[in-house]
Amino acid sequence: MSVVDEIKIRLDIVDVVSAYVPNLKKAGKTYKANCPFHTEKTPSFVVNPERGMWHCFGACNTGGDMFTFVQRIENVDFPEALRILAQRSGVELTPRTPAIREEEEEKARLRSLLSAAAEYYHTLLLRNSIAGPAREYLDKRGITAGSIERFYLGYAPDSWDQSSKFLTSKGYSSHDLSAVGLVIEREDKSGTYDRFRGRLMFPIRDINGQTVGFGGRVLDQGVPKYLNSPQTTLFDKSHLLYGLDLAREQMRRTGTAVIVEGYVDALVAHQYDFANVVASLGTALTEEQVQLVKRFSNRVVLALDADKAGDAATWRGLEVIRGVVDEKIIPIPTWRGLVRYQGRSALDIRVARLPVDKDPDEFIRANPTTWEELIRDAQPIADFALETLIRDLDLNEGKDKATAVRRVLPLLADIVDPIERSHYIQRLAHLVRMDERVIESEFTRLGRKEGQRQVRGNKPSAVPDGEAAWSEPDLEEHCLARLLAEPSSFGTVQRALQEIGTADLSADDFELAQNRSLFTEMPNGIFSLPEDLYRVHVLDRLNTIRTQLEQEPRVTRLEQTRATIEVALRLRARNLTRQAEELRLLMEEAVNEDEQEAASRLRVQLWEILQEIDKVKRALLVLPGMRRLPGVMPN
Ligand code: UTP
Ligand code: MN
Repeated sequence: MSVVDEIKIRLDIVDVVSAYVPNLKKAGKTYKANCPFHTEKTPSFVVNPERGMWHCFGACNTGGDMFTFVQRIENVDFPEALRILAQRSGVELTPRTPAIREEEEEKARLRSLLSAAAEYYHTLLLRNSIAGPAREYLDKRGITAGSIERFYLGYAPDSWDQSSKFLTSKGYSSHDLSAVGLVIEREDKSGTYDRFRGRLMFPIRDINGQTVGFGGRVLDQGVPKYLNSPQTTLFDKSHLLYGLDLAREQMRRTGTAVIVEGYVDALVAHQYDFANVVASLGTALTEEQVQLVKRFSNRVVLALDADKAGDAATWRGLEVIRGVVDEKIIPIPTWRGLVRYQGRSALDIRVARLPVDKDPDEFIRANPTTWEELIRDAQPIADFALETLIRDLDLNEGKDKATAVRRVLPLLADIVDPIERSHYIQRLAHLVRMDERVIESEFTRLGRKEGQRQVRGNKPSAVPDGEAAWSEPDLEEHCLARLLAEPSSFGTVQRALQEIGTADLSADDFELAQNRSLFTEMPNGIFSLPEDLYRVHVLDRLNTIRTQLEQEPRVTRLEQTRATIEVALRLRARNLTRQAEELRLLMEEAVNEDEQEAASRLRVQLWEILQEIDKVKRALLVLPGMRRLPGVMPN
C-alpha cells in the first residue's frame, strides 16, 4: 500500500477539513459549509466522507481529495501536503533509522524545553514581584494585557542562574539548555550562566505557534537593546517572521501581508487590530521569509523606516551582495531583487514609507486610520525603486540624465511583463524628458527587447529558465558536462569570454575540489580520462548529466555552443558576485578602521569587478537572441 493510501485510511476527510472549516454541517450523507476558498452566502462546499472527496459547486467549481484540500488551504505543493498529513496521521514517509529517531526525539525535547521556558517567563511577568518594573514598563508603553497574552510576553529574572535552575528542576538537562541557547558556556568551562537576565521576553514562534527562540529587551538604556537566541537547529532567523502564527489568518483574509522591522511594531499593530502584520527579525528580508507570507497572500507591503527606505546608497550597495550565491543566503532586500522576485512569482511587492523618525508603533498609535491608508496606498516596488534611484540626480543636467537611464535600465530588464515594462520606460522618458524611443532603443541595445524568455522559451537549454538557474548548485558540474559533451567547443568558449571582456575559464572558477581537478584534466578541451576510482566516480555523475544533455531534443551545433557559453557565463557571474561580496566586506572593514588607502584601493577593485559582472550579465541577456555568437569564427 502506498503512503498516500495509508494516510487516507488513517485519516477521515471530515476531520481534516473541519480543522480548517469549523462550521461544517452534516447534510444527509455529506457535509456542507460555506466554501473556504471563496466568499459566499450559501454553502456550496460539500464533503463526501464515503468517497473521501470534497467539492465546491460555487465559484471554485473544483474539488478533490484530502491532499488537494490541504494543498489549497495551506497553499503548498503536493509533497508538502503529503508531509503535513503524514505527520497528522502518524504515517512514516521514510522508515526512520535509529539516528533519525534520536534526532527527532532531541528536537521534541528541545521544543518542549522552549515552551516550558516561555511559560516560566510569562508566569513570572504576570505574577512575580520581581517583574514589577517590567509590568510598569509595558504599562508605560501602552501594551495591553491582551497583547501580553497573545504574544505571551515574559520576564527573565535578573540572575545568573535562576531560570536555568528552574528548568533543570523540571527535568531538562543543561546540555539541552545550552543547545537552545538559554545558557552560555563559561569561558573557563566551569559551568554555564543564563543568557537572558533582567529582560522583557518576546517568544519567537514558528508558523504553527511553536516557540523556537526568544528576543529579550532591556528595560532601560542598556545594550544590546535586544538580545536574541543564537542560531540553532530550531531557531533559524532567515526562515522565521515574528507574529506569523497570529497573522496568517488575517493575511489570508485581507490578501495582504505587512512586514515591519520591530517586534514591538508588530505587536502594537495587532493590538490595534491590524493583525496581518509580522516583523522580520532584525536581519535583511530573505527569500524564505517572502515565501512564507506568500502562502497566505499575494501582496506584500514592506513598511520601511523613511530614512532607510529612501537611502539609495543602501539599496545600491546591497545590490552588490544580492546575487547568484548559494540560494540559502541570498538576501533580497534590494529593489532589483524584489522586482525580479515579483516578476517571477506573481507576487505584488509594495513599499509603504513611514515619516522620518516614526516607527510603526508610534505611527499606529498616533493615527490608526492613516496606517490603513498608508498600507493601502503603498507604492509598487518598481515605482519606489525608480524614484529612489534618481533622487540624488539633477535631471536637467545631460550627464545626470545619462546616469539616470543607466541606473534604471537594469531594473527594467527585471520586469518580465512587457506591458508593465513599457509603462516604466514611459515613466523614465518622462522623468528625464527624453524621447521614449531613445530609451527604448537603448534598452534594445541591451538585448532585452526581444524578451529573453520568449527566445529562450522554445529552445532547449542546459539550465532551467530564469533566475533560479543562477544559484544552481550544479553549475560547475553542468559546465564541465557541457564541455565534456562537446570538447571541441572549449576554444570557442574561451574566445567568447575574451570577447565579452571577462577572463578565460580557469580551474579557479571551480570551487569544488573534484570539479577543479577534472577541469585541469581537460587540457585544450580534450578530455583525458583519469584512471583512479575516485575520479571515475565523479565522472559517473558527469556522464549522467551528459546523457541527459544528449537526450535533449536535437539541436544544432550552434545551439549547443550557445548553451555552453551560457553556462560558462553563469558560472563566471556566480564567482564574480562572490568575489564582489567579499571585497565589499573587506572595504567596509577598511572604512570602519579608517584605513583610507586600503579602502580606496578596494573600492577600485570592487568597481572593476562590478563592471565585469555587468558585462557578463549583459552578455547573458543578449545571448539568447544573438545571431552571431561571441567567440564563434564566421565560416
Ligand atoms: P528597533 O530598535 O526598531 O526595535 O529594532 P523596536 O521593536 O522598535 O523596539 P522598541 O520600540 O525600541 O522597543 C528593530 C528590530 O531589530 C532587531 C529586533 O528584531 C528589533 O525588533 N534588533 C534591534 C536586534 O535584534 N538587536 C538590537 O539590539 C536592536
Ligand atoms: Mn520601536
